[in-house]
Amino acid sequence: MKFTKKLAVGLAACAFSFAAFAQQPIVIKFSHVVAQDTPKGKAAAFFAQKADELTKGKVKVEVYANSTLYKDKEEMEALQLGAVQMLAPSLAKFGPLGVKEFEVFDLPYIFDSSDHLHKVTAGDVGKSLLSKLEPKGIRGLAYWDNGFKSFSANTPIKTPADLKGKKLRIQSSKVLEEQIRALGALPQVMAFSEVYQALQTGVVDGTENPISNLYTQKMHEVQKHLTITEHGYLGYAVIVNKKFWDGLPADIRKQLDDAMEQSTRYANQIAKQENDNALEGVKKSGKTAVHVPSKDERAAFKKALVPVHQKMESRIGKETIQSVYKATGFDPSKM
Ligand code: LMR
Repeated sequence: MKFTKKLAVGLAACAFSFAAFAQQPIVIKFSHVVAQDTPKGKAAAFFAQKADELTKGKVKVEVYANSTLYKDKEEMEALQLGAVQMLAPSLAKFGPLGVKEFEVFDLPYIFDSSDHLHKVTAGDVGKSLLSKLEPKGIRGLAYWDNGFKSFSANTPIKTPADLKGKKLRIQSSKVLEEQIRALGALPQVMAFSEVYQALQTGVVDGTENPISNLYTQKMHEVQKHLTITEHGYLGYAVIVNKKFWDGLPADIRKQLDDAMEQSTRYANQIAKQENDNALEGVKKSGKTAVHVPSKDERAAFKKALVPVHQKMESRIGKETIQSVYKATGFDPSKM
């Protein structure tokens, strides 16, 4: 074969293998710790589908639910190292990363309703909080709702005193630690994947979570009492490895941004219903007595827990707390 012909054949082969390579989808590994059948699990699956649709198959999102790939602490490290590209950790899990301001979301009773919360997450305060992740090599894309947490234990919970001396599992947040201490109880930080067993074996006596998490992990089977305290919020920041995200072709990134926007709308639409359905499931199971606190009982929990705001001022930053108060209209003196 003449040199020019050889070259032409070689170039054609090269072009062919480049085309084959170019057709390989970009893979986004999205790891999370909850069941598929939860607000976060469903929103992650929705995002995977939208990403496939909008990029016409150029991006494949692989969702790993239920801590099958990584547990809480590991998943943050894996994201920073680029072993996974996307996560949606609870806002209570950013403290160990050094971004303590996120713990403002953990302050008890700081949000009266989802509407108040959205004033923060959809506004400047939410944006500014996400920007604090950039120096950690993380880009924050969106906030996804779960809902309000309630306390569960094996003994009835009607007043704060009912939790005194109990070992209660919490997420890795100093504000949550202080919240549990304010009740005279003992905080136990533990990965989400270990909670069921810890409750079953009595390593801890109780916990707090939105009902969708409690129900889908079957925690109600090992908790005799659940009180709808709704004393604090649990939601998520959807985050990506910044280097990975910035390295995506601009058109693909735009399509993924659109997919994320649609997924965020979906997540926030279904969250309340998912929690209401889970509560029905708990009630139907007959395994857990559900108590709805009276006005006075609720007031007693507020009285015990709102002082945590001031106590945690030096950790979260007065400015951050004030900016949330301003966005929501929360007035601690009226508690
Ligand atoms: C928990 O650890 O209780 C939650 O953060 C789990 C989750 O991601 O909803």
